[in-house]
Amino acid sequence: MLQLAIVNGPNLNLLGTREPHIYGNQSFEQYFAGLKERFPQVELHCFQSNVEGELINYLHSCMGKVQGIILNAGAYTHTSIALADAIAVISIPVVEVHISNVLAREDYRKTSFIAAKCVGSISGLGMEGYALAVQYFLSK
Ligand code: DQA
Repeated sequence: MLQLAIVNGPNLNLLGTREPHIYGNQSFEQYFAGLKERFPQVELHCFQSNVEGELINYLHSCMGKVQGIILNAGAYTHTSIALADAIAVISIPVVEVHISNVLAREDYRKTSFIAAKCVGSISGLGMEGYALAVQYFLSK
């Protein structure tokens, strides 16, 4: 069975209550439960941390275990060379996902340190970006 990991970075544990005008009203737990029902042919793993090093450790732990990673690195997207290096080292395809359209927001969100290490990026399509990334891995 296709094994995929969804990795969420800082503040994404508060989806549903965090700036709902930007990120919507649904918690990630609610969305993830629906995602698992929609893709019974995929084993979906999920990890969230507010700590940069824990995200890196989790990415390393995915080696040899999953065939693809869906990563919403939150604000670390715009700051973390260490996360970019981790993506480069694990040799697992990573799709970058952002719920909001980062290119339509503050200038500091327009730079992604991780994008060039990812196979592609989905931004601005809401939580559905995660499902679209799952579909991408299924289509391969
Ligand atoms: C985000 C966009 C980032 O700029 C922000 O820091 C987040 C969420 C998104 O999903 O739209 O935490 O990654």
